[in-house]
Amino acid sequence: MVEKNLEIIEAINKFKKEKNAIILAHYYQDADIQDIADFVGDSLALAQWAAKTDAEIIVLCGVHFMGETAKILSPEKRVFVPDLNAGCSLADSCPADQFKEFVEKYPDHKVISYVNTTAAVKTLTDIVVTSTNARQIVESFPPETKIIFAPDKNLGNYINSVTGRNMLLWEGACHVHEQFSLEKIIELKKQYPEALVLAHPECKSVVLKIADHIGSTASLLKFATQSDKKQFIVATESGILHEMQKNNPEKQFIPAPPNDSTCACNECNFMKLNTLNKLYNCLKYETPEITVSKEVIEKAVKPIQRMLEISEKLGL
Ligand code: 13P
Ligand code: SF4
Repeated sequence: MVEKNLEIIEAINKFKKEKNAIILAHYYQDADIQDIADFVGDSLALAQWAAKTDAEIIVLCGVHFMGETAKILSPEKRVFVPDLNAGCSLADSCPADQFKEFVEKYPDHKVISYVNTTAAVKTLTDIVVTSTNARQIVESFPPETKIIFAPDKNLGNYINSVTGRNMLLWEGACHVHEQFSLEKIIELKKQYPEALVLAHPECKSVVLKIADHIGSTASLLKFATQSDKKQFIVATESGILHEMQKNNPEKQFIPAPPNDSTCACNECNFMKLNTLNKLYNCLKYETPEITVSKEVIEKAVKPIQRMLEISEKLGL
């Protein structure tokens, strides 16, 4: 198995060179995919990389909306996701036709959408945000601006609470982050009384209330690295623990468990559909490819570009 993996890794690196391809991976990918990627990052960083790379092929090891975002930002490139079934329950919780009806009811509202949406939803959006920049982008609007925020109600509630805004929220959620259990985290705190709780803002408000730090995956990683504490309970998808542990071998990272299972950690079944084997096949056969129509790209690129411009100004 080890030898087999080494052969696959060698072949992937060879294809990458021959085909001028770049591998971008999200922190929620399996460790072996993160280790072979040219760049590992959060949703914002992956979009920034997709916009600036001069590789001819982008293999986005993440989920479908991330591949779409890369294609929208670099339409002249070929973009692949190793398993096209890697969807997202949060993006699915906001179907474009229903969202269009909703938006049309509030014509005086600006529309802010989380990047975890389909390209079709992005065409109905004024500006896209990620968990790294959502707060600053909301605050860049005058306080009296009426705003629709979609699709994550937990992130929206959190941004409302820290900014004092009253954005109208779409009732969507991520099945992974909704699963974290306050009770189980409190139990873990008894076992590890010194541990700080790190939580992604897609978690429910009861979990966020007891968190010592709330932020995107990149922000949780940075906080853990800069902190002088030694133990952390991590309430986001457990893939991030790989990079946390790699950067901080002397610290202990304890995954927060989901509510209704005996598993010790919480995994996104969509993210985990990508495997080293599928990545190999993807590069070898140049499939499955992400396609987005020209009309959709023309509309969806604007709110994503706006986000990238503001993020650059903010130094994010
Ligand atoms: P970030 O990458 O912005 O931390 O978001 C996490 C997530 O849920 C990606 O699907
Ligand atoms: Fe979507 Fe949640 Fe998986 Fe992220 S963790 S890709 S938001 S289902």
